[in-house]
Formats: sequence, structure tokens, C-alpha cells
Amino acid sequence: MLNIEVCVGTSCYLRGSYHIINRLEELTEEAKLSDKVNISSIFCLGNCGTSTSVRVNGEVLSATIDGVDEFFKNNILPLAQKN
Ligand code: FES
Repeated sequence: MLNIEVCVGTSCYLRGSYHIINRLEELTEEAKLSDKVNISSIFCLGNCGTSTSVRVNGEVLSATIDGVDEFFKNNILPLAQKN
């Protein structure tokens, strides 16, 4: 199972955490990977400076509202398909 944790701390929330969570869930369903990807929310990951923090299997990355589709394609899809 690939664990995706999206930060919903104040700084990340203001940058669109909930849009990012919803879009990641949609993309996961579209790719038929719902049984391989677990998406959850988490509070501050200590990386508040840029865009919304997203931890993928323990690695803290960043995603933006505009870039969430690309984020999924580059950082989630390859790992999920391997699992
Ligand atoms: S609020 Fe998201 S990393 Fe701090």
C-alpha cells in the first residue's frame, strides 16, 4: 500500500490542501488504484514555506493546486503501479 499524507495545517490548508486531497482521490480512482493507494490528511509536516506538503511513503514533497495532476503522474503513479 502506498501511503499519501496531505498536510492540512494552516499554511498548507490556505494553499489548497482540500482541493489537492479531492483531486488525488479522483485521479487514484480514474487510474483504478484505489486498492493500492491510501490518502489521508495530517497536520504540519514542518515544511510550511512553499506549497502544500504531501508525504509519499515517508518522503515530504510539495504540490500545488495547478500542479496536482502532474504531481500524481510523476510522484504517485509510478510507485503505485509498482506495488
Ligand atoms: S502547515 Fe503544512 S507543512 Fe506546516
